[in-house]
Amino acid sequence: MRGDLDRVLFDEPAINRRLDELAQQISNDYRDRELTAIAVLTGSLMFMADLLRRVSLPVKLDCLSVASYHGKAHTMGKVTFKEVTLPDVGDRDILIVDDILDSGHTLAAVREKLESAKPRSIRVCVLLSKKKQRARHVDADYVGFEIEDEFVVGYGLDFRGRYRNLPYIGVLRRELLKGEGMKGAW
Ligand code: IMP
Ligand code: MG
Repeated sequence: MRGDLDRVLFDEPAINRRLDELAQQISNDYRDRELTAIAVLTGSLMFMADLLRRVSLPVKLDCLSVASYHGKAHTMGKVTFKEVTLPDVGDRDILIVDDILDSGHTLAAVREKLESAKPRSIRVCVLLSKKKQRARHVDADYVGFEIEDEFVVGYGLDFRGRYRNLPYIGVLRRELLKGEGMKGAW
């Protein structure tokens, strides 16, 4: 699988070092409070598990499953919630945990949905944020790494369901992205 990558951006030690820092920051910011983490599946699985194990606070964990359809004109920006029952977030301090901030559609929709349930506070934590113009503005309060606008895989992130189990994050070779309707299909 390493051969499918153009280059590795963040290896395991780099990811671990950054997770230590993020977890420390979160633990300080929420000191003396209970945190409710809401992980956006599936891409955030590894990140969420490794991050939350480093956080020294009482934490409740819920997961949300959403599907986004980008790149198809008729469904542009549409985000469907697969879980019918949303986690109970009323009066809680919510931290949304996701893998990557790209167009912003997913996180904007998730944030809006959770805000309607009146949490006490709501913040967003992403492992990666692409430096690009977003279709929807999203403020990420905690960002692991900023990256260029390239397609990355590993450590939870996939291309057509693959590469999630790579312990590092890398840029997928461009020729593998080509092919039927790939543009914007992630
Ligand atoms: P957004 O709604 O465009 O911000 O994108 C959100 C979702 O698209 C992420 O949660 C990922 O699942 C997926 N995604 C965006 N960029 C990448 C990438 O470079 N690699 C893998 N998945 C990506
Ligand atoms: Mg995702």
